[in-house]
Amino acid sequence: MRKPIIAANWKMYKTISEGKDFITNFLPKVKDVYDKEIVIAMPYTLLFVAGEMLKGTNVKLSAENMYVEEKGAFTGEISPLMLKDVGCSYVILGHSERRKYFKETDDFVNQKMLVALKYGIIPIVCIGETLEEREQGKTLEVIGKQIKGSLSKLSTLDAEKIVIAYEPVWAIGTGKNATPQQAQEVHEFIRKKYAEIYGSIPSEKVRILYGGSIKPENFKEIMAQKDVDGGLVGGASLEVESFYKLVMYDKI
Ligand code: 13P
Repeated sequence: MRKPIIAANWKMYKTISEGKDFITNFLPKVKDVYDKEIVIAMPYTLLFVAGEMLKGTNVKLSAENMYVEEKGAFTGEISPLMLKDVGCSYVILGHSERRKYFKETDDFVNQKMLVALKYGIIPIVCIGETLEEREQGKTLEVIGKQIKGSLSKLSTLDAEKIVIAYEPVWAIGTGKNATPQQAQEVHEFIRKKYAEIYGSIPSEKVRILYGGSIKPENFKEIMAQKDVDGGLVGGASLEVESFYKLVMYDKI
């Protein structure tokens, strides 16, 4: 049984006071939730204070990006050691916004993933096709290439540990989510490709999250798909009530 992960990606939203308010109101509501992992990825400026607030709770801290070196002359970058230091258990890597605006390649994402694991941080590695690629019928080909490029060189143990997020680019922030069937088709394909590389046990254990215009109204049906193990949520994670509803998707 794969434990579901409900992960927020706050992107470039929330000042310190806004982040603190969210956590103060959110924690008591989810304090008894242990059948899912709850993760919040937030801007660097919030990590320290949020890390202090989340210590000893059932909500885990995540960063949204990371550099590949532990320290050095890399102005403006943040290292895995620093993320560990501040209490991060997770880091999102290769989000489509980073691939698009900051030209991150599969190879660079792969390097980051391997480094994160060295520091005991679980990477949430994002893959997904653009609208153009989908319309040209290239979805599975693109996903296959991203899996090979971004998710290679793992040990068997690490292959079980990492988290994969399937985020169709055309569904991010557009209000146009993939249908549950579209999500299932790609998730099943990812698991199959993963099995070809790492074998059947890691592929049965690895958790594959869906992301892209998740809302309380559409999440339950997406979660009902056999190969969907959770969600990576942007917009709907910014308000306590809607993120809480997503965490409780199977109860309310
Ligand atoms: P939205 O939920 O706002 O579409 O964003 C999805 C996403 O990019 C999560 O990483």
